[in-house]
Amino acid sequence: MPAEPPHSAPTDGPRHVAVIMDGNGRWAAARGLPRAMGHREGVKALKRTVQAAPRFGIRCLTVFGFSTENWSRPPEEVSDLMGLVRSYVASDLRRLEREGVRVRVLGRRTGLPADIVAIIDHAEATTAHNDKFLLQVAFNYGGRADIVDAAQRHIEAVLAGRATGPLDEETLGLGLSTAGSPPVDVIVRTSGEQRLSNFLLWEAAYAELVYQNVLWPDYGEDGLADVVEQYRNRDRRFGGRTAPVEAAAPALAAG
Ligand code: IPE
Ligand code: IPE
Ligand code: MG
Repeated sequence: MPAEPPHSAPTDGPRHVAVIMDGNGRWAAARGLPRAMGHREGVKALKRTVQAAPRFGIRCLTVFGFSTENWSRPPEEVSDLMGLVRSYVASDLRRLEREGVRVRVLGRRTGLPADIVAIIDHAEATTAHNDKFLLQVAFNYGGRADIVDAAQRHIEAVLAGRATGPLDEETLGLGLSTAGSPPVDVIVRTSGEQRLSNFLLWEAAYAELVYQNVLWPDYGEDGLADVVEQYRNRDRRFGGRTAPVEAAAPALAAG
């Protein structure tokens, strides 16, 4: 992954936006509908958002579809959520392929039903040559599990004589499932909750955080426009100092 600059004022929009798509259940409950309906509307919101993203100069979108903790939901809901992968890929893969979108699924394959693994493999293989836009879907993904898997890969490489120690940040980053994607500029969470829920823990180190009150099934272009505007008003310092702070420092010392 390219090294991040010491600081940057993001006059341009974010290149990589990551979204915790939350609030499907509350959207359905507010309408007296079953949760499955909220998840189904959530897929429509995902399609709208993927289509809108390039209009803002976004090159990569990473969305959280199913966390390693979501297995603790009732079996019928887990099954509904698995079903969404089937319906999303069945209804949108041709368009994604045509529009130059590369699909990549982040997370552990183990534990997923065999037909879902086959669908994921097919979606990745069919779009592997695309380079206009990268859509990363975190599915059976946990940030901690991803870091553990990256460390484990390194241990195995050392034991096999393919790598040497000690482990450094760059090497660990190359073992993560997001390796090769641009640095995450902003992590968005809908539904008003303000936590990461085990999403992109490593990649979040210097990402901007944006919390929006909209429930995910209502999301689309307007939500992204708000994210881009908020992002442009942030001052990304990466631990360094921006020009105005440096100018103010001597005055403070003198006073
Ligand atoms: C997000 O909506 C979708 C997934 C977690 C897969 P939720 O199902 O978490 O909806 P709320 O948070 O209960 O409203
Ligand atoms: C995070 O949302 C997971 C996804 C959006 C896929 P959750 O709804 O599962 O998170 P918590 O339980 O509110 O932390
Ligand atoms: Mg939720």
